[in-house]
Amino acid sequence: MDKMLNVALPKGRLGEKVYKIFEQAGFPCPSILENSRKLIFENPEGGVRYFWAKPSDVAIYVERGAADIGVAGKDILLEYEPDIYELLDLDMGKCRMCVAAKKDFRDDMTRALKVATKFSRIAGNYYSSIGRDIDIIHLNGSIEIAPIIGLSDVIVDIVETGSTLKENNLEVIETIVPISARLIANKSSFRFKQAQIEKITSEMAAYTAQAGRKDK
Ligand code: PRP
Repeated sequence: MDKMLNVALPKGRLGEKVYKIFEQAGFPCPSILENSRKLIFENPEGGVRYFWAKPSDVAIYVERGAADIGVAGKDILLEYEPDIYELLDLDMGKCRMCVAAKKDFRDDMTRALKVATKFSRIAGNYYSSIGRDIDIIHLNGSIEIAPIIGLSDVIVDIVETGSTLKENNLEVIETIVPISARLIANKSSFRFKQAQIEKITSEMAAYTAQAGRKDK
């Protein structure tokens, strides 16, 4: 079996921050911070290989065992329900999954509510939990356009600062669930590379606890 620890990191600022914690945990690979278009970096002596994956694909690499561990948003875990272990809430990349609509929106209970979203499962589960009939319109991005031009009544989407909603004259009606980044592991890697994975998990837990104290 491959002895290297394969790590899928989400491309972007969050991934870079997470890499620094992995480095502190004893899995350095300094070439990763060179600004290049390269996506795979290896430190054979350190026993680690990193990939910069599209954030929404990290869970697929981990579920399939192409990566032993990775960092994925709770939104992706709720939407795709990958068969992985969720090891730790990293308390980073925080945002919330919300229902939003135009300011003058009034729900017409006599018909199905038209919901535009990238997160069809999360939206479906939420509305079935409150017993509201919906018609899902699955989009791939720029969801905010939908209620403005009448494609949908509401949207279910991620809100971070709230500025995208504000600039498009939309407002939050309901928060469905808070979201943050999670450390995840492939189920069989977790057994076979337990020592390395536990080391990283405990370092990250310590870092998260310390960062949490600084916030207070
Ligand atoms: C996400 C989300 C919102 C925006 C929210 O979009 O879908 O559009 O960020 O952030 P804010 O509350 O800080 O304004 P993303 O940038 O991922 O692109 P998308 O339009 O492709 O979904």
